[in-house]
Amino acid sequence: MSSASAWPENRRITVSDLQAATDRGERWSMLTSYDVLTAGIFEQAGVRGLLVGDTSAELVLGYSSTLPVTMAELISMTRAVVAGTMTALVVADLPFGSYQAGPEVALANAVRHLKEGGAQAVKLEGGSRVLPQVRALVSAGIPVMGHLGLTPQSVNVLGGMRRVQGRGDAGEQLLADALALERAGAFAVVLESVPADLGSRVSAALRIPTVGIGAGPGCDAQILVWQDMAGLTTGRLSRFVKPYGNMREGLLTAARQYASHEAAPTKR
Ligand code: KIV
Repeated sequence: MSSASAWPENRRITVSDLQAATDRGERWSMLTSYDVLTAGIFEQAGVRGLLVGDTSAELVLGYSSTLPVTMAELISMTRAVVAGTMTALVVADLPFGSYQAGPEVALANAVRHLKEGGAQAVKLEGGSRVLPQVRALVSAGIPVMGHLGLTPQSVNVLGGMRRVQGRGDAGEQLLADALALERAGAFAVVLESVPADLGSRVSAALRIPTVGIGAGPGCDAQILVWQDMAGLTTGRLSRFVKPYGNMREGLLTAARQYASHEAAPTKR
């Protein structure tokens, strides 16, 4: 560890390092990553945790929702992210269908993420209904990140993806779910698309870090889908997304120059 930074430089960041940063009031960030090159770049930039998210279903594999992505697909992306990094904590998503049936199936799939993918932790969606799964994983030594608010794997029940969750009474339920996840042993909770005041309230109530995505600045950490962060994603972005670059434009310009250069008539 260097004297300048409390973050490890010669080993992977652990969930205890994230908790320690939160305890000392230091904000930290996460991004999604699905491949070896972006993983290395994000780590170099100081992003502490990388999520091999099931958003890869849409952004890498071209599915129309997160539901179809499989364990095998996420494991091979997780392996790539692990291969591209030395210090970042790598969290692998448990995809739809890989944990809902109960603690046994959840444990078997989480073990695969650690053994075959090399992840250090897993993430699953939901509150009270997944507590038995969280307890089973944690007691097997697998760090678990919860995910509340907008939970894309429940798109068919939620009736759409853009609704802010946790307004009114639903906010009390979300707070209760977050506290229950903490008691069950989760090391952090993602809060997606919830009102900023609820994000702050949950963050104040929990000891473990909250990781916000569209949950306001009061969360302990922030996460974004990397293609949204870098300005690569097409179409309408969620209101909370602030692109930090225009990678789509940069890539398009480079590809156009390449295409027109290669299409130019050659001298004989
Ligand atoms: O799968 C994912 O990328 C996520 C983030 C949006 C938090 O769950």
